[in-house]
Amino acid sequence: MPILFNEKSGVFNLSTENSTYLMGIYKRKLLVHLYYGKPIKSDVDIDHIISRTTGSFSGISTLCEEGERYSEDIIPLEYPTYGSTDVRTPAFKVEYEDGSTITKLVYKAHRIYDGKPELEGLASSYADSKDGVKTLEIKLYDDLKKTGVLLSYTVFEKRNIIARSVKVINESDEKIVLTKVLSMNMDIKGEKFDFIHLHGAWARERHIERRPIIHGGVYIDSKRGSSSHHHNPFFALASENTDESHGNVYGFAFVYSGNFVGGTELNSYGTTRTYMGINDINFRWNLGPDEAFQAPEVVMTFSADGFNGMSQNFHEFIRKNICRGKYRDIERPILINNWEATYFNFDEDKIMKIAKTAKELGIELLVLDDGWFGERNDDKSSLGDWFVNKKKLPNGIDGLAKKVNELGLKFGLWFEPEMVSPISELYKKHPEWAVQVKGRALSQERNQYILDLSRDDVCEYIIGFLSDILSNNPISYVKWDMNRNFSEAGSLLLPPERQQEFFHRYILGFYHVLGTITKKFPDILFEGCSGGGARFDLGALCYYPQIWLSDDTDAVERMFIQYGSSMIFPTSVMGAHVSGVPNHQVGRYTSFETRGNIAFMGRFGYELDLSKLTDEEKDIAKKQVKDYKKIGQIIHEGKMYRLLSPFDTNYFAVEFVSEDEKTVILIYSNILGQPNPTDNTVYLRGLDSDALYKNVQTGEICGGDVLSNIGMNMKNDRDFKSSLIVFERI
Ligand code: GLA
Repeated sequence: MPILFNEKSGVFNLSTENSTYLMGIYKRKLLVHLYYGKPIKSDVDIDHIISRTTGSFSGISTLCEEGERYSEDIIPLEYPTYGSTDVRTPAFKVEYEDGSTITKLVYKAHRIYDGKPELEGLASSYADSKDGVKTLEIKLYDDLKKTGVLLSYTVFEKRNIIARSVKVINESDEKIVLTKVLSMNMDIKGEKFDFIHLHGAWARERHIERRPIIHGGVYIDSKRGSSSHHHNPFFALASENTDESHGNVYGFAFVYSGNFVGGTELNSYGTTRTYMGINDINFRWNLGPDEAFQAPEVVMTFSADGFNGMSQNFHEFIRKNICRGKYRDIERPILINNWEATYFNFDEDKIMKIAKTAKELGIELLVLDDGWFGERNDDKSSLGDWFVNKKKLPNGIDGLAKKVNELGLKFGLWFEPEMVSPISELYKKHPEWAVQVKGRALSQERNQYILDLSRDDVCEYIIGFLSDILSNNPISYVKWDMNRNFSEAGSLLLPPERQQEFFHRYILGFYHVLGTITKKFPDILFEGCSGGGARFDLGALCYYPQIWLSDDTDAVERMFIQYGSSMIFPTSVMGAHVSGVPNHQVGRYTSFETRGNIAFMGRFGYELDLSKLTDEEKDIAKKQVKDYKKIGQIIHEGKMYRLLSPFDTNYFAVEFVSEDEKTVILIYSNILGQPNPTDNTVYLRGLDSDALYKNVQTGEICGGDVLSNIGMNMKNDRDFKSSLIVFERI
């Protein structure tokens, strides 16, 4: 049973195949955290785990009864509030009508039920009936203020994942204001953890950083309105010597696309408070009598098998319990995108030339990127004017799409639905639709403003124009972009006391629009994008089954970005293309083979002027397309192992083992070549040591034990020299 409650001891046991999470009701009142780690089947006693209950300069709890003496400041709490004797970082803070901000939550009730409910208005994970998940809901309540929280824990037993969320309920007659509602808190015993997270910037997203935690706080966040290029809403805590295959790791990911915070606070008694949720900067939510507020979900996992174990748990979960729809389990078309081929400078002839070569190479989908609408010949105008530019496309989108279809290719189109250019028909007509604060100058980023998705009329307008274009043209794929962060955030429609609800309301509007459109057009493949990876999070992945990983298409840069992203994300969600050389972002020359080998790790495509390829390049591309069709599914559905990190070595190596364990794929590359090189050995993982494996390219046969323990020697005498090796078990 994944969820058990022991009436006598007051302990909740939430168990997956490889982990157990324990909480308890301490002295019949406080919900305390007891344990998260390797499986525990035996009964436990709360007092055995919580031996220290007081400390100097820590107040004695007002909840103590005759003969009891404990302080919330010392005890590991499950959902700490502001205003008790616990003066660590709280997860929850409210302003009441009397001006007080104190909340004391005690256990009231709980229920355990089958399945998992959707979170209203929000992105959230889901379970198929065969997943056999169970949910525990615990009610904590402040009797004085008649305010409480429902803490939800869904246990995905087979996936080793627990999904958590918090719903705030106001059962008083007062209007209260929520100023902080985090989605999870966990006070873990132990102080020797490393904090691992993914940081970056535009075009160099999700680089791995690892630091020991310190007394006081370590955190990552976004205040940019979207989850951002800068910090991904994910972090891990690992015991000191953890590596890819050994050591205890906890991973946390937020199913949300807006402002977030996630971090740790190590106290003076060796307990590490760990938390994640909506950033409380510029967050105030008004909650009237009988209203509720649903905070987004955090998913967490524990692995005793190092980082790779954590990643494999997340990969499977994201593939099966976050991504949805027709494209979840099927291979997706190999595409050609015209962005780096033409930028804004294209017409129907140029696009058709690219399409013809694409067909010759076996590519299946042509995507027309930015510049097809309004007067958009650069990035200075026309967002919002979603009518075709007849100078470039005299036959319209419909005419072009039909010609592309006649060649045997599907057709896809770029949109940036949430934006408006100051120079546009839309802005002339509806300046009030831009995100803004009355009377304050509005700053531009990439010459554009953001449409105010906290407004229903704006959401309906976006749903309307997208529905119109998608219903009236043969469009099989949409690239949904979002190319700026927020500033001067506010809405002309919200009353003053609700202005700080704006950021969250925007995300609710975004999910409403995206949810409506993706449901209405289930056959269209939607790829998310935000200047590459500024909205690469589990919230967005509930709607888009894939996201353009980064605007950096250089193969070497991509080794870092893809390797870092794989800490949490499966390759099935990463858009990755072969682009031209010299690379447009860094000016680097890499071979066509290496660009292909590295892009194989994601949803494969091309982004260069195919009509200019040499015959030799065309032959390589044909082979890439053919190979990818054979092995793409294994790369996306198989178990992934990270073997050599570009962050720590001069190499990149990742491996994929098919679900039936019959095929093994190794993608390997040097970064810089060495003259007279030293040997570099790759040790494969996940193989059967009693089985034989045949290298499909060379015909060489090797034992699984040899490949795993003696390894393979790789040549490293050339810059960026890569290989893609397929082994079949014989
Ligand atoms: C963003 C995207 C690119 C491209 C351009 C178009 O930067 O990430 O892939 O679509 O917008 O303007």
